[in-house]
Amino acid sequence: MDLIKNIKDIMIGDRSNTDVIREACQDLILDDKTLREIMSRFLCEIERGLKKKTHPQADIKCFVTYVQDLPNGKERGKFLALDLGGTNFRVLLIHLKGESDFEMQSKIYAIPQSIMLGSGTQLFDHIAECLANFIKEHKIHNERLPLGFTFSFPLKQLGLTKGYLIRWTKGFNCEGVVDHDVVELLEDALRRRGDVQIDVCAILNDTTGTLMSCAWKNHNCKIGAIVGTGSNACYVERVENCEMYDGDSKGKEHVLINTEWGAFGDNGALDFIRTEYDREIDEFSINKGKQLAEKMISGMYMGELVRLALVKFTKDGLLFGGQGSDLLFKRFQFFTKYVSEIESDKAGDYFNCYDVLEEIGILHATDEDCANVRFICECVSSRAAYLSSAGIAALINKMNDPSVTVGVDGSVYRFHPRFHDLMYSKIRELTNDHIKFDLMLSEDGSGRGAALVAAVASRQTHESDD
Ligand code: GLC
Repeated sequence: MDLIKNIKDIMIGDRSNTDVIREACQDLILDDKTLREIMSRFLCEIERGLKKKTHPQADIKCFVTYVQDLPNGKERGKFLALDLGGTNFRVLLIHLKGESDFEMQSKIYAIPQSIMLGSGTQLFDHIAECLANFIKEHKIHNERLPLGFTFSFPLKQLGLTKGYLIRWTKGFNCEGVVDHDVVELLEDALRRRGDVQIDVCAILNDTTGTLMSCAWKNHNCKIGAIVGTGSNACYVERVENCEMYDGDSKGKEHVLINTEWGAFGDNGALDFIRTEYDREIDEFSINKGKQLAEKMISGMYMGELVRLALVKFTKDGLLFGGQGSDLLFKRFQFFTKYVSEIESDKAGDYFNCYDVLEEIGILHATDEDCANVRFICECVSSRAAYLSSAGIAALINKMNDPSVTVGVDGSVYRFHPRFHDLMYSKIRELTNDHIKFDLMLSEDGSGRGAALVAAVASRQTHESDD
């Protein structure tokens, strides 16, 4: 036995650190066969979300948004928008001028962690205060402007202005909001202040905003996706397939569905590809066992996934001569933007990589370490890109339109140097040959999209007034 063990040791001993790291990272690499299996599980879950009988147990909830009309490019007017749930909280003033022309002013406000994890009343009072300040600064306090509220969390909607929070995701966990109508909570907070006259005319998800914003210019846009702090997609579905649609469809054939795909895998459907890093991320998260796909894809976790792998290989003596740093061993101190920076280095050049390592206190890295760090980043980011591609490709195949444009936004999609290309080529491989598709950056869906949903909603009110 000892002899066999020794031979094994010698064999491992002969392999370079790079070889061992590359082999250990195989678990992070998803081939097309695996991705197709994921797509079929994903579609099953989508169907379960859409059907009344299976909806309560489904992981991918496929919430009905009640957004049924896409913009026609002629929308006009001034709108306010609130954007909560992305990297920043923002208040926006958007002036749609028709013919795809618009002006936008916006301000970012901080949401301190004490509020993200505090009470719902505190959160909505804070939002109302930011809105009141914004309105004063822009001298629009005498105008009663329509407002679209981009609230990027899973909502069960009962209409365009009624949405009950199902669960908090990403870094939020405010008490007393789950199961409440978020529009009502906002209106209550505004009423408590008494100095803001606003009509909340729509509540929407950032994916819906992204789709609308893209559809404003490109009428073929039927999917909106986000790969940012969180990850999710919405798509155009036929009303007849939406058993959860509750209301009078007024002869309308389609409705946008907010899939909330971030929760895919919560029932174990992705366990066959989850790694030790995924399990550890989940273990230490504030929403354990929830949003498992999101934890493999989105920007909130990408840097941390890389850090966990770096820690493991450092402890195994395979990186940095076995010597880490305080920051390397600290949770969430390897930022997702580092992944983009490291992968932006030209081939064979480790300029950004050395900078990042220096930032986290590692001053003794070698070129071999840098090549390995980059490889780990590539494994994690490619996996994220391929998982989101599998979701989008599954939706494209399901819709089966001859051609479709996908609007995408989010910090990871925008700033990672290879994300768009990785997604484009993988979606091409995974979609049926006869379908043409396009993947386009949909700028500022959470702002402009909110204004468009509000505009289309007020267009309908005026039409029914006539
Ligand atoms: C999370 C939210 C979802 C949102 C996504 C992207 O998954 O639950 O509503 O669309 O993040 O921001």
